[in-house]
Amino acid sequence: MAIMRGGGFVTVQQHIIDEQEDNSIAHSGEFSWLLSAITLSTKIIASYVRRAGLVDVLGEAGSVNIQGETVQKLDLIANDTLKRTLGYRGNVGVIASEEDDEAKVIADPSKGKYIVMFDPLDGSSNIDANVPVGTIFTVMQRQEGETHVDQSVLQPGHKQLAAGYVVYGSSTTLVYTTGQGVHMFTLDPQFGAYLLVRENLRIPEHVNQYSCNEAYLHTFPKGYQSYLEWAKDQEGGNCSMRYIGSLVADFHRILLKGGVFLYPPTQKNPEGKLRLLYEANPLAFIAEQAGGGASDGVGRVLDRQPSALHERTPLIIGGKQNVEEVLGFVKKHG
Ligand code: AHG
Ligand code: MN
Ligand code: MN
Repeated sequence: MAIMRGGGFVTVQQHIIDEQEDNSIAHSGEFSWLLSAITLSTKIIASYVRRAGLVDVLGEAGSVNIQGETVQKLDLIANDTLKRTLGYRGNVGVIASEEDDEAKVIADPSKGKYIVMFDPLDGSSNIDANVPVGTIFTVMQRQEGETHVDQSVLQPGHKQLAAGYVVYGSSTTLVYTTGQGVHMFTLDPQFGAYLLVRENLRIPEHVNQYSCNEAYLHTFPKGYQSYLEWAKDQEGGNCSMRYIGSLVADFHRILLKGGVFLYPPTQKNPEGKLRLLYEANPLAFIAEQAGGGASDGVGRVLDRQPSALHERTPLIIGGKQNVEEVLGFVKKHG
C-alpha cells in the first residue's frame, strides 16, 4: 500500500527533499534533479518492457558489447534513454555504462559534479521470456583536480553518494539509498509517479534460502562447493533455492524476504561474472544500508579498489548471518 503523509502520497522526489536536511547529496536538491533523469528513463524503459512483443524491442541488436555479450535491442534502448536524460541534467559530468567501452566525460568538474554509472538493463537474456529484468545505478562525486576520468570513476564502493535499482516485474519498483536507509517506491501507472511503499527496509538476518546457478558447481572453488553441499543437507543448512537469472530480481527478493545470492568464480569467469562498479557496488551499498552484507569472498565489496571500469567480481550478498555462513566455508576451504 502507498504510504500517505500529510493527507497525500509521497513521491520519490518529495521523499528525497524530506531527507535533505541532514544529507549532503540530497541537501542541495541536486540529487532529486539528478534522480529525476533516472526515474524518467526507467518509466520510458518500463513502457518498452511492458509492450515487448507488440513493439520491435525483443531479440538481439546484432552486436556484441565490450563484455563479449550479445546485445539485446532493449539493452540499447535502455542505454540510449539513460544517456540522453542524464546528459541534460547539467550536474552530471561523467557517465559510464555496462554497454559502453569507456566512461564518457560530458561536462567539466566545475559544473558536472557527479558521476553516474549504470547497468541499463540487467538480466537481458530473460527479456524475451517475460522474466523480470531491471536497471541498476550508482552516483559518485567527481574528484577535485581530476586529470584523468579514471581518477573519478575508479573509486571504491564506500564512496558512493547514492545507489538504486528499478525492477521491471509484476510492478515497476524503485529502491534507492543515499546512506539514510533503503526506501522502496512503486510506479503508479495512473499517475506516472513512483509512490513510497516501504521505508527503512531491513534484510532478515538469516533465512534458509540460497540463490546460485549450480550448473557451474564443479568449477566453483572448493569452499563454495562445500557451502552448497551443506546448505542442501537437511541436517545441515536445510535450505531451499530460488534463482531467476536476473541479479536485480534475485537481489530484490532477498532484500524483502532474506537469504543469500552467490555468484562464485568459475572456469568461464575466474574473476567472477558480475561487474564491480555498476552491479556489485550499488547492491552492496543497499544491502549494508538494510543491515545485510556483501563480500567478494575475500573482503567487503565496498572496500575493493577498482582497477578497471568493467572489472568483474565474485559476489556473496544477502542477510548478514547468511553471508557470514558462506564466508565461513569459503575461508576454511579456500
Ligand atoms: P546483464 O544482463 O546485465 O549482462 O546481467 C546478467 C547477469 C545477472 O543479471 C545475473 O545474475 C547473471 O548474469 C546470470 O548469470 P548466469 O546466466 O551465468 O547464471
Ligand atoms: Mn547486469
Ligand atoms: Mn546489462
